Amino acid sequence: MKIKSDFLVIGSGIAGLSFAIKIAQKFPGKKISIITKGTKEESNTKYAQGGIATVYDLAKDSYKAHIEDTLIAGDGLCDPAVVEMVITQATARLDELLNWGVSFDKNAQGEYDLGKEGGHSKNRIFHHKDITGYEIERSLLKIVNQTPNIDFYDFHYAIDLITEHQVFGDLISLESDKTVFGAYVLDEKTKEIKTFTAKYTLLATGGSGQVYETTTNPFVATGDGIGMAYRAKARLADMEFIQFHPTALYNPGESPAFLISEAVRGFGAYLRNEQGKRFMKKYDTRLELAPRDIVARAIDTEMKLQGNKNVYLDVTHLDYDAFVKHFPNITKKCESLNIDIRKEYIPVAPAAHYMMGGVVVDKHGQTSIKNLYASGEVSRTGLHGANRLASNSLLEALVFSHNAAEDIANRFDENVKLPSVPQWIDTSTNRNMEKILITHDRNEVKTIMSNYVGIVRSNERLLRALRRLYVLYQDNKRLYDHAEISTDLLELRNLITTAYLIVEFSRKRKQNKGGFYSKDLI
Ligand code: FAD
Ligand code: SIN
Repeated sequence: MKIKSDFLVIGSGIAGLSFAIKIAQKFPGKKISIITKGTKEESNTKYAQGGIATVYDLAKDSYKAHIEDTLIAGDGLCDPAVVEMVITQATARLDELLNWGVSFDKNAQGEYDLGKEGGHSKNRIFHHKDITGYEIERSLLKIVNQTPNIDFYDFHYAIDLITEHQVFGDLISLESDKTVFGAYVLDEKTKEIKTFTAKYTLLATGGSGQVYETTTNPFVATGDGIGMAYRAKARLADMEFIQFHPTALYNPGESPAFLISEAVRGFGAYLRNEQGKRFMKKYDTRLELAPRDIVARAIDTEMKLQGNKNVYLDVTHLDYDAFVKHFPNITKKCESLNIDIRKEYIPVAPAAHYMMGGVVVDKHGQTSIKNLYASGEVSRTGLHGANRLASNSLLEALVFSHNAAEDIANRFDENVKLPSVPQWIDTSTNRNMEKILITHDRNEVKTIMSNYVGIVRSNERLLRALRRLYVLYQDNKRLYDHAEISTDLLELRNLITTAYLIVEFSRKRKQNKGGFYSKDLI
């Protein structure tokens, strides 16, 4: 089946949905297709807790301070022009969210109740209790569902981008020639592979935390956009920079790991080791509110020193009622595990959380492939450098989706015709593949990455990871060439590709920075 649209959006988190709303408003007579694997709402966005960092009241905060905090957290590798652009646009983008019906908490005086997180010099995090992402996803989906020129295809999995390579064959696809014409998409319910064509495509597939054993990311975060962009030969950068969130709840067997928001430390919580001692002063003068890479490494060191699998977050000294008001979901989760946060410490450990690198885009969200835009966690914009400042990613997605919509509106040419795109050719001969061939390899990728490519890496660990991933790649390729296409198989292909890229970029890095740290480079 062929489905023709003017605009194709791949992914339904904050990046995809906010872009779709904007482009639908700009082009009321044009057709927008959103495709997403699984349900409409499942995404990293849905689980965001802390909120959105925004300078709103210039009498109390300044763009300069937020810019400086972002640059410091990025460990010298941010693009300062991009940082300035994003931070100064934040107020306008937040106003749009408010207009779209997103509600942010206010205090007794009727002012926005601004939270604080690591690396921020001011309270500037707009939040909806501790379920900010859920509130944003709910509001954006409501608008999208009411927009007549948006068609929503849930349970549709994008397999590969369509470029000259598929249309004209290998010889045409020189770097300078590449244009995107849409994507091949698996209908997860009927198993049909559909051809979605479009003049413009937005890649908004989110992150890749699932390459690690312990992650805060939901099961959909399998690096699909990275895999698709890599195969289409788009430019990628900074893939070695992985952010480990310092404080995921340590609850063995629970996957994904439940996050204990950094805003809890911003609210005054302490980190303590097995002996009950606060330890952050050994590592950084900013203590519990140092940037995330520093806190995560400090916890990792502390756990190794003590031979433990976790440290503790202490909220016993905080005002319980105020805490419950701000963090009802976290409180409920602790209660469900019989942790009485008034008396007991919360066991926590770092977990893979965010991918700083990704598909390289310019200030308009344009990738190195013509008519292919990228926004959100899949992209590498230059905002985060080597380490993202807390609560800057929802903001980044809003800004780049806005800029992409503006850029397309300025460039849209009614007369551009799409080439005739061939349908997917099904070459599969094996329709009874054993699932174990996929589940085992998926687990193996995760073990390799957690043991060899975690918070602290080394040359030897990276080499071992590379060798093992190559074997997994070969096995997966044989499966892919012959087995019936399924979400599991495709996700595994992208997990292996993403893991391989993280390792390869890590092997090339010569200096420790932010989310990359090798003990051989100390
Ligand atoms: P996502 O929201 O992940 O959406 C990606 C979409 O693409 C999903 O719908 C997915 O199903 C779909 N998709 C993926 N692959 C395919 C495919 N092959 N075909 C079709 N569809 C596909 N950031 C902040 O700024 N503040 C916070 O407080 C915050 N808290 C967080 C808490 C948690 C637990 C987590 C995991 C992240 C948090 N982050 C936070 C990070 C932030 O949530 C994400 O970076 C951001 O939501 C990414 O948005 P996105 O639209 O790029 O991707
Ligand atoms: C958190 O609430 O700690 C997550 C914030 C983020 O990842 O930006």
